[in-house]
Amino acid sequence: MKEEKREAFRKALREIKNLPTLPGIVNKLSRMAEDPETTTEQMGKVIARDHILAVKLLRLVNSAFYGFPQRISSIDSAIILLGFNVIKGLIISASIFEFMEEQDVELWEHSLACAVAASVLAKRIGVKDPEEVSTAGLIHDIGKVAIKMELPREYEQISLMVAEQGISRYLAEHEVLGLHHAEAGGWLTKSWNLPAKLVEPVSCHHDPRLAENEQITSAIVHFADLIVRGMGYGHGDDVWVGPLSQRAWRYMGLAPSDLDQVLDEIDEKLWEVKGFSLEVMNEPAPETETD
Ligand SMILES: [Fe+2]
Ligand SMILES: [Fe+2]
Repeated sequence: MKEEKREAFRKALREIKNLPTLPGIVNKLSRMAEDPETTTEQMGKVIARDHILAVKLLRLVNSAFYGFPQRISSIDSAIILLGFNVIKGLIISASIFEFMEEQDVELWEHSLACAVAASVLAKRIGVKDPEEVSTAGLIHDIGKVAIKMELPREYEQISLMVAEQGISRYLAEHEVLGLHHAEAGGWLTKSWNLPAKLVEPVSCHHDPRLAENEQITSAIVHFADLIVRGMGYGHGDDVWVGPLSQRAWRYMGLAPSDLDQVLDEIDEKLWEVKGFSLEVMNEPAPETETD
């Protein structure tokens, strides 16, 4: 029976209509990036052609959320300074930010907090692309959005079960659907052709032992999720904070004595980005010229 449900949901997800598709520009840019002949200017031009996206991207780059030290005023310099992978993550983030903010404010806050915590942890551990880890943190619960939009009745049933029986959301999802949101998020991000660097941390954030290639990023997102829940940035009556995976802890290589400082830093960063929204920022739009 559960197998049938899983299959039905997998099918529904494949044919999803309500969920946002990633802007075609992400695929286009990925193809361009693979071609060694492509120049920064050419990429900048493609991004700048989508004016709304370009403005959002520059706002995001210059927001407290990323907190890059210098003001970045053109797409070209953003690509040069931050590198293509970061820009791609930013485009994905800019698209998902807005969508999640509209759908579920509580989940949006939880996701934003997780992205902040993941970025602090990634920098602390010395991961090469902390912004990419942060993007993974931002989208880790995207499967919840998929369930909510595609199976609203079941979603209500899950929420009711959590409230009435006091069980974790993860368990209730299993009871009702035969799968959980991490799995759903994995399918979805895969169908968006996102790199394994982003897909694995999403699908493995509740059980980082499942990660085959992206163990450290998955461990970081797993831990960041637990930390922010513990700090009160949870979601939908789900008061359970699951156990920290031993293996994830080993992968991160943190000492217990690092923890206080890490938690303080996350707390401080969370204050800085509190209330951050792409829409409510009133500052004038940055320039989007590419030359
Ligand atoms: Fe989750
Ligand atoms: Fe989460």
